[in-house]
Amino acid sequence: MHFLNIVKGRTMQKESNITVETQNEVNMAVKDGETDIVNNTVKNIHARKSVRKYTEQKVSEEDLLLLVKAGMAAPTGKNMKPWHFITVRNRETLDTMSEQLPYAKMLRNVSAAIVVCGDTQKSQYWYLDCSAATQNILLAAESVGFGAVWTAAYPYEDRIAAVNACLNIPEGIVPLCVIPVGYPQGTEKPKDKWDETKYHKEKW
Ligand SMILES: Cc1cc2nc3c(=O)[nH]c(=O)nc-3n(C[C@H](O)[C@H](O)[C@H](O)COP(=O)(O)O)c2cc1C
Repeated sequence: MHFLNIVKGRTMQKESNITVETQNEVNMAVKDGETDIVNNTVKNIHARKSVRKYTEQKVSEEDLLLLVKAGMAAPTGKNMKPWHFITVRNRETLDTMSEQLPYAKMLRNVSAAIVVCGDTQKSQYWYLDCSAATQNILLAAESVGFGAVWTAAYPYEDRIAAVNACLNIPEGIVPLCVIPVGYPQGTEKPKDKWDETKYHKEKW
């Protein structure tokens, strides 16, 4: 019950925190897409952005669990669910990954991360399924007021090896990505990616 209240409280806080500026950006993105479907889910999709700058406020294990559950709600080929999720809050581990992953330096400034891993033996779709799970995590993070970003391990052998070594990942399991999760400083804004030239009706 306590957990639900925390989650609900944060969600409500986030909703009331949607600033006029963010709301306008969301409206613009939706308007350009020529759709009038504007519900909170669609708004959240348009509000999501990669967040690489965080405050010092710490993310709890309970918060991470909420995000992992969102990850495990993703669709998977043949419903195989070929995934594993590792939550990391140990300072030393986060710092080591920050040192070893060239494009995940922000791990040094965040209190938590989720590593999304795929079981390569279980499904040939593992990286697709894990990508869907990662997007779910990113969207859930945005919706409850966290800032997160997908940082790649797969398909880079050196990055995979570094994450494997840091986290004791067994053979056959491959880390797709490391997702730092923190409270956003609020400087990053969603990008408007709508591109009419990539929109084809009926045929190319
Ligand atoms: C497969 C994939 C790998 C990515 N790898 C990294 C990465 O290693 N480091 C990083 O800072 N961002 C990484 N990103 C985030 C992208 O840079 C980001 O999504 C893109 O610039 C669009 O910005 P947005 O997420 O704010 O819409 C990755 C995103 C994807 C989908």
